[in-house]
Amino acid sequence: MSHADDHEGTRRDFLYYAAAGAGAVTAGAAIWPLVNQMNPSADVRALSTIRVDVSGIETGTQLTVKWLGKPVFIRRRTEEEIADAASVEMSALVDPLARNANLDASADAEDANRALDETGQWLVMMGVCTHLGCVPIGNAGDFTVEGVGGGWFCPCHGSHYDTAGRIRKGPAPENLPVPPAEFVDETTILLG
Ligand code: FES
Repeated sequence: MSHADDHEGTRRDFLYYAAAGAGAVTAGAAIWPLVNQMNPSADVRALSTIRVDVSGIETGTQLTVKWLGKPVFIRRRTEEEIADAASVEMSALVDPLARNANLDASADAEDANRALDETGQWLVMMGVCTHLGCVPIGNAGDFTVEGVGGGWFCPCHGSHYDTAGRIRKGPAPENLPVPPAEFVDETTILLG
C-alpha cells in the first residue's frame, strides 16, 4: 500500500467513524425517553394507585386528577347527561366496546358499562384523546347537552365525545378508556 493509499484509507475511516458517531448520538437522544419511561422513578411507582376524595364534586361538574402522569376526568353527571347517553342506539356508536378496564374486554359500550356506579352518576375516564393524545375539553363539542353540559371535544383534529365519553364524530377511533377504578367508601375513588 502506497503512502497515498494509506492516507486515503485513514481519511475514509475517519469520515466513516465521524458519521457513525453522529448517528449514535442521534439514536441515543431518541432512545433515552423510551428507556426513561421503562424505568419509572420511585415517585411514579408510588402513585400507581391513588385515592381521590370526590365529596366536593357537585353534580354537573368534574375534577381532573393526574394519574401515572396522565389526566383522568372524574365527572359527576346530571340526570340529563345520563339520560342522553343511555338513549343512544348502539348502532350510532363509532366504537362498540366499553373500553372499561373494570369489565371484560368484550363488554359493549352501553352507558351502564361506562359509568362507575349503579346510578350512572360517576364517569371516570382517561382525559387523553384516542386519536393522537391531546386532552379533550369538557362541556364542549356536538354531543354536549344543551344548557346542561357534558360531552368532550378535542380541538386538535376535531373529535367529539358524548356524555359517556364515547367517540361519536371525528378521527379518534376509540372511546375514552375507563381506567381501573372503584369506590372504596362513599366519597373515595381508588384509581389503579
Ligand atoms: S388528538 Fe384529538 S382529534 Fe387528534
